[in-house]
Amino acid sequence: MKNVLQINTSLFGENGESSKLADRFVEKLLKQYPEARHIKRDLASDPVPHLDAERFGAFLAPPERRSPAQQAAVKYSDTLIAELKAADVIVLGLPMYNFGVPSTLKAYFDHVARAGHTFRYTANGPVGLLTGKKAYVFSARGGLYTGTPWDTETDYVRMFLRFLGIEDVEFVYAEGLAISPQSKETSLNKAAAALERLAA
Ligand SMILES: Cc1cc2nc3c(=O)[nH]c(=O)nc-3n(C[C@H](O)[C@H](O)[C@H](O)COP(=O)(O)O)c2cc1C
Repeated sequence: MKNVLQINTSLFGENGESSKLADRFVEKLLKQYPEARHIKRDLASDPVPHLDAERFGAFLAPPERRSPAQQAAVKYSDTLIAELKAADVIVLGLPMYNFGVPSTLKAYFDHVARAGHTFRYTANGPVGLLTGKKAYVFSARGGLYTGTPWDTETDYVRMFLRFLGIEDVEFVYAEGLAISPQSKETSLNKAAAALERLAA
């Protein structure tokens, strides 16, 4: 393993439970692979802008037709995509906010899903171009949702990553964090044990 891309998305930054799990996992990975290159994006302190018509238009415009602002938008998206392409391992801290993924993560996804760069259209439908990668998702929630229709995140994140060609995805859940102090402790311990197993 050479490159680890970590994306934390908790609005609480490094104090978020998903961030703490992702941080701990990466720390263990880097101990195992001290030569690995680690890029960390914290979408709370360094948010990706919402995709708007100007930015999306920039992605579609021929390079010579792009305005300076559009060139900057494409360069920014290119940087995010280059990080993803270079990554062997992707580690994602994933809170649930208002029954979905953080809007910052959606904005990130909107900047890395680019035809011809991370996926391409074929006669048989879209094909992801980011193959051969492994992703770990550390998911924190106040309630209990896994295996129920209320879990709006797991299928969505899996589907999005698969769309880009990232098929090998492990989820670790810390759920029921808002139910009671005991539920929180039990769940965090369970997530920590799962994390240890994955990092072993
Ligand atoms: C704005 C906000 C919205 C939330 N919405 C939900 C929710 O819809 N379902 C849920 O189970 N927990 C919800 N929670 C609880 C979080 O999922 C929980 O605090 C979790 O630890 C968030 O991950 P983080 O600590 O990494 O930020 C919400 C928390 C906040 C701050």
